[in-house]
Amino acid sequence: MSNNNVNEVTMMNLLLLLSLLTLSVTCHGFQNSPQRRWPPLSSSSSSTLHSSTTTDDNITTKDVLSLSSIRSTLIRQEETIIFALIERAQFRRNEVVYQKGGVPGLGWPVGAVRSENEEEDEELSFLDFMLIGTVSYICGCCKTDSMLMIYVYINKLYFTQEVLHSAVRRYESIEEHAFFPSKLPKRTNSLSTLDYPDLLSQDADTNGLNWNPILYNKYLNLIVPAIAAKGDDEQYGSTVLADINVLQALSKRIHYGKFVAESKYRSDPDGFQKLVDAGDADGVMKLLTNEKVEEQVLTRARLKATTYGREPLLAAMPKVHSNAGDSATAIIASAAAMAVVAACEAVQNTAEETLKGKVDPGMIEAIYKQLIIPMTKDVEVAYLFMRCGREPPEEYSCDRMSLDVVELEPRKIS
Ligand SMILES: *[C@@H]1O[C@H](CO)[C@@H](O)[C@H](O)[C@H]1NC(C)=O
Repeated sequence: MSNNNVNEVTMMNLLLLLSLLTLSVTCHGFQNSPQRRWPPLSSSSSSTLHSSTTTDDNITTKDVLSLSSIRSTLIRQEETIIFALIERAQFRRNEVVYQKGGVPGLGWPVGAVRSENEEEDEELSFLDFMLIGTVSYICGCCKTDSMLMIYVYINKLYFTQEVLHSAVRRYESIEEHAFFPSKLPKRTNSLSTLDYPDLLSQDADTNGLNWNPILYNKYLNLIVPAIAAKGDDEQYGSTVLADINVLQALSKRIHYGKFVAESKYRSDPDGFQKLVDAGDADGVMKLLTNEKVEEQVLTRARLKATTYGREPLLAAMPKVHSNAGDSATAIIASAAAMAVVAACEAVQNTAEETLKGKVDPGMIEAIYKQLIIPMTKDVEVAYLFMRCGREPPEEYSCDRMSLDVVELEPRKIS
């Protein structure tokens, strides 16, 4: 690729960043406008803190989950996902975490139930140990193959997390999906049921579509090997917690496809009904696909990954004590300078950086391009079929991708 092209891409990214900057300036203006919806945080001065509440102080679940809030959440989720991936990439693959006796000398966790045949208790994986402290341990599904071990043991961790979280209504939210819904007990406490806004269909099976099985599979088999360096660094507990953060962030992201699908359905119910009646999944997929928007998502993911994965140019930061106008200008200038460096870096392919605990921005883009976007669209197609009263075609079931991905390939910009 010629230098010209590199410059063009860099310019494109720069323009995008500048428009983001402009946007934040606009938002700032909005916050200061008299018609703002929320009172600023600083308004709770000590005199008003304990005085009577106004109707503005309390809002409901329905207010929080509007369609416009969902759009902004979708963009904010990119940060959550990218930071979670960067966190996981700090650690090596650490396969020993999943091996029985891989970390010897842990002893038996305090308070844990011992199995009837105590000999079975002698050796634990590190992850077992973390888990046993919180749930009574049921063995019986340990396999020697390390990938299967990962599955089985994270499964138990989810069990713990998800039982607890389900007791406080997590999976009653239209935004949340459990990885092991069949293992969750019915909630018996007396917390009230929250009233969610009418953003999905009225049908529980349609709303309940759960794509975590295939997400889980692709995370273990493609994402972990792609972002974590081979080998071991002894940071086992942190590794597992980082895994959970990534999985939950990705799960939330791909299931937002349901909100998108519902809003598309409402804009053209007859169009979708016709396609579904004809069993035309490709036609539905085509109606859902907006290549321009997808390209924007990819560019943004790549740029954000480059920006967050690097040290800020502290030397270029202005001193804060200068007068307000000057310092605002200087901060914008230095942010722009940093953005240029990030943009230049984003168009270079730096796969070898992964070895230094940094995620290749091209790999994060690939995760979006090959997994997140396609899975979101699979969720959308399945949702739309169900919405129109028909089972989705087999290739849109939740344990597979309609177009299977067996390897992540960062896009070469060269
Ligand atoms: C706001 O919520 C609090 C806590 O539930 C409640 O005590 C208060 O009365 C509510 N205020 C209004 C105006 O509804």
